[in-house]
Amino acid sequence: LRERHGSRPLRLAVPGRTIVLLLSPDDVGRVLAESPEPFTPDTVEKHAALGKFQPHGSLISRGRPRRERRRFNEAVLETHRPLHHLSGPMLVRIGEECDRLAAETEDAGGLDWRRFERAWWRIVRRVVFGDGAADDRTVIDLLDALRRSANWAYLTPTRARAREALAERLREHLDRAEDGTLAAAVAREAPDPLVDPADQVAHWLFAFDAAGMALMRTLALLAVNRGHRHVARCELGASDPDSPEELPYLRACVLESLRLWPTTPLLLRDGVTETRWGPETLPEGTSFLVYTPLFNRDGERLPFADRFTPGIWTDGTAEADPSITPFSGGPACCPGRNLVLFTVTSALARLLRREEYRLAS
Ligand code: HEM
Repeated sequence: LRERHGSRPLRLAVPGRTIVLLLSPDDVGRVLAESPEPFTPDTVEKHAALGKFQPHGSLISRGRPRRERRRFNEAVLETHRPLHHLSGPMLVRIGEECDRLAAETEDAGGLDWRRFERAWWRIVRRVVFGDGAADDRTVIDLLDALRRSANWAYLTPTRARAREALAERLREHLDRAEDGTLAAAVAREAPDPLVDPADQVAHWLFAFDAAGMALMRTLALLAVNRGHRHVARCELGASDPDSPEELPYLRACVLESLRLWPTTPLLLRDGVTETRWGPETLPEGTSFLVYTPLFNRDGERLPFADRFTPGIWTDGTAEADPSITPFSGGPACCPGRNLVLFTVTSALARLLRREEYRLAS
């Protein structure tokens, strides 16, 4: 498309809507920097989909409700701290679950997605709610059922009863406010009445799914890249397994897996006002589409496009490019970024310390 039309925003021929595909990194940077206004993340499509299981989520809100919900997320997730103040108790729980998984893997002769996924959700439930939720698979099953329906956005009816069942279960787990968990951090917050914590937590659980995928992909990347595996091992060798650490190289490996296989392949924004774009004026309600794989692996611009190159996350290359954004960018970027990277790298570190992983297929 860029070869044929140039890199200006490209209007798609969709009847009844103005949909614009962004093709240049600077345009991506502009839309993300100017979110949530005039470019709101609360788009028609996202509202219909995420509304199925988090009707009052930050990402699908506007105005004051959005400000309060975003503020709540940033406060509890400690967006601006590389290590959450609860990273100590989190690390203990992550370590226990990874040891258990590694022992099972040894017995079974291999690690596959099904086994990993079970362990990952136990980690997530224990980090978010505590040990009382470790075995509660139902909470994830309820969420999964609503997510399946969310894939059909406005084409399926709202499942009010299933949504209430999920919200009630989330509230029960949050009410326990177990020590050392995100639920305890939620309890400390005393949020504005516009914030429904259960809805924010529904988003966290949904998003931790992507974190598990990124973990497995990073493990696979390291399994087939001896050089990078060696550097990661050196970093682990120089760190204390029992104290929470940033592990910058392993973090870079996770970010690189997300660049190569982004878990959010489309970033969407709707214009809440008319927008001037160079010589053009786009009407209010225009949808802006950022197809992230194009930018992450842009062979025309990036010499490392399809190569696993963790170094771009430590030498400033990725940061300088406004369109390499696995966690989105600007004021509406992912407030869980640091927490995700901590959880995933800590679990990876524990697994890598115990075993040598090889790709079986
Ligand atoms: C690999 C894991 C994750 C990735 C790649 C990721 C990425 C993203 C991206 C790209 C967005 C922006 C979406 C948009 O603009 O439409 C976002 C938003 C968000 N993420 Fe994440 N995320 C991950 C995990 C998490 C986790 C585990 C949490 C919470 C514990 C979280 C909390 C949020 C929240 C609350 C928002 C909405 C922000 C807002 O309304 O401004 N994310 N994430």
